[in-house]
Amino acid sequence: MPGRREGAGGTREYNEVMPYRVTLIPGDGIGPEVAEAAVRAVNATGVAIDWERVELTGKIIEESREELPAAVLESVQRTRVGLKGPVTTPIAGGFQSVNVALRKALDLYANVRPVRTLPGLKTRYQDVKIDLIIFRENTEDLYAGLEHEVVKDVVTSLKVITRRASERIARYTFEYARRLGRKRITAVHKANIMKLGDGLFLRCTREVAREYPELEYKELIVDNASMQLVLRPEQFDVLLMPNLYGDIVSDLAAGLVGGLGIVPGANIGEECAVFEAVHGSAPDIAGKGLANPTALMLSAVMMLEHLGEIAAARRLQRAIEKVYREGRRLTPDVGGTASTQQFTDAVVEAVQAGDGGA
Ligand code: NAI
Repeated sequence: MPGRREGAGGTREYNEVMPYRVTLIPGDGIGPEVAEAAVRAVNATGVAIDWERVELTGKIIEESREELPAAVLESVQRTRVGLKGPVTTPIAGGFQSVNVALRKALDLYANVRPVRTLPGLKTRYQDVKIDLIIFRENTEDLYAGLEHEVVKDVVTSLKVITRRASERIARYTFEYARRLGRKRITAVHKANIMKLGDGLFLRCTREVAREYPELEYKELIVDNASMQLVLRPEQFDVLLMPNLYGDIVSDLAAGLVGGLGIVPGANIGEECAVFEAVHGSAPDIAGKGLANPTALMLSAVMMLEHLGEIAAARRLQRAIEKVYREGRRLTPDVGGTASTQQFTDAVVEAVQAGDGGA
């Protein structure tokens, strides 16, 4: 049926023979397993997507010695939307993180990570409703990758904080919060110690906060914020933080709602957006059919919203929630016995039945 699409690529006329083009980066480790599951779930919604598959793995980077293969960059720059699985980065030595390189090359400055309790899922916090969103600055801080061995056994790692990046992430966060009717934004920092760097980040967030008087604005030091999250996670609404704290606090928050298997994410820039889960390539379970694809499926829900396919996004989200509410076909990380494929079958069936319920 012909119609109009509002979304990532602006507004365009379309019909069923003109699908969206989306770059699919399966990645490595559990990446290909969860990517295949997410593609099946999205395709089940009926939204026509022409998936442009590009390979990006730790092995490719190691062998080619490129920071980022040109084909990957070129594809996302053209399609402007990517769905990405995790990519392995060697620890201490080897190549730079390809994930960080991609975010920087595409200037994907806002990392958005909604952390929500899933219906029916048994966790330590099951009696508490957790519904918070982490906004992580995604391009600088200690991820600038500027490290230097001054003399043998003395290393400096530079933490870069700029007004431009701090204002940009703050504005994105406040705009998002206003649009979604969120109530409270908490800036997380360590400006008591990093007085200049985190001090600048805070100055920028305070300036932006003044333009949004309807949103309550608070600040918390990152160590206290971590404890508060564990003690009373329900008090948090929107959390805004520089890159490193965002990375760490995201995993902590994921642990509150059932683990890394279920927390999605989006990397947003002016031109492009790449949707990926918070989790990494999970080498301990790769290839065993144990991976939970929920996090990438929920990232795909965010992608559908970004494309303007709101009804399909809601359908997929409701289908996932239905499978959790029923609780019969969940993966082992969240207490079930189902394989990646069995869980995916359950979600696809629920999407097709359209009976996700409210
Ligand atoms: P990880 O997130 O891969 O795994 C941590 C733990 O969570 C493991 O026990 C794993 O089995 C479990 N887990 C993660 N995702 C899961 C899922 N979907 N279903 C079930 N269990 C899941 O973190 P780790 O082990 O620190 O990193 C592994 C590799 O991934 C590293 O090379 C790291 O650099 C890379 N990485 C890549 C990211 C990306 O591509 N965006 C993000 C984070 C890490």
